[in-house]
Amino acid sequence: MKSVADQLATQSSTPDEVSIKPRNRTHDIAAALEGEWMDNSAFLTAFFNGMSITFPVGEKFFIDSVRHYSDQIADPVLQSEIKGFCGQEGFHRREHQRYNETLCTTRGYDLEKIEGTLTRRLNWAQKNLPPMTNLAVTVAIEHFTAVLAELMLRPGSTIDNAEPSMRALWRWHAAEEMEHKSVAFDVYKAVGGTEELRRSVMRRVSFLMTIELTRALFYILRKDGQLFSLSVWRKGLAGLFGKEGVFGGAWPLYKAFYTVGFHPWQQDTRDLLDQWAAEPQPMSY
Ligand SMILES: [Fe+2]
Ligand SMILES: [Fe+2]
Repeated sequence: MKSVADQLATQSSTPDEVSIKPRNRTHDIAAALEGEWMDNSAFLTAFFNGMSITFPVGEKFFIDSVRHYSDQIADPVLQSEIKGFCGQEGFHRREHQRYNETLCTTRGYDLEKIEGTLTRRLNWAQKNLPPMTNLAVTVAIEHFTAVLAELMLRPGSTIDNAEPSMRALWRWHAAEEMEHKSVAFDVYKAVGGTEELRRSVMRRVSFLMTIELTRALFYILRKDGQLFSLSVWRKGLAGLFGKEGVFGGAWPLYKAFYTVGFHPWQQDTRDLLDQWAAEPQPMSY
C-alpha cells in the first residue's frame, strides 16, 4: 500500500521532464495585424483574431478558478505547477490584451462589443456557480487549448503559413498551454472533482464556446466587409475543418475527454515541446 507521502506525490501528473516555466516574451505584431496574417486568408485571420479576443477574460477566469483551490493542495510539486500555470496565463493575458487593443484600433473593431458577452457570462459564473463547476469549466477549456496547441505544434500545421511574428506568438502560447495542460485537471482531481461533472460541463462549454467564437467571427467578417462573400466562406471553412485545415485531426483528440479515466498526458506530446524548444527563437523576445 502507498504511504501518505507517495499519495501526495501523485497529485501532479505532469511528466518530470516538462517544466511549467512562464516566459515573459513580447511580440512585435502591430504591422502583421494590419493584414490577413493567417495563410493570407481573411476568414482564418478573422477566426484567430476573434479567438484572441476571448483569451484575456478567459485566462483571468482560469487563474481565479485554480487559485481558489491552491491552499487545499498538499503536493509541493503541484503547488509549484499552479504558480507556473498562473504565471504563464498571466503573460498570455497581457500579450493577448495588447494584441487585441492594437488589432481593434488598427482595424476599427469595438473590443468591448466583441468580448462583452463573454465577460458578463464568466462574471456571472464566478458569482453564481459553485467553485467546483468553475474549475470544471477551466478543465474543459484547457482541454480545447491543449488540442489546439497540439495541432499548432505539429509539423505542417496551418500556423506555419502565418506571418512569422504571429506564428511565433501563437506557438509560444501553444507550447506553454501544452506544458501546463494537466495542471487544472490535477487540481480538479485532487479536490474531488467527479468524472460526471467534468463530462457534463464539457458538453455545455463546447456549445457555448462555439457560440462565442462564431459571434466574434461574424462581427469581424462583417466589419471587414467579407461576411457575405461565398468564396471567403468556402475557402475559410475548408481551411478550418478540411483534412489539411487548422482543425484537421482534432476530433479524436477532443473526444478522448469523454472517456472514463481520461487524463491530458495520456496524449504524450513531449516530442512536440522538444521540437518547439529546439527551434531558433525570434530576436524580439
Ligand atoms: Fe493561455
Ligand atoms: Fe491554459
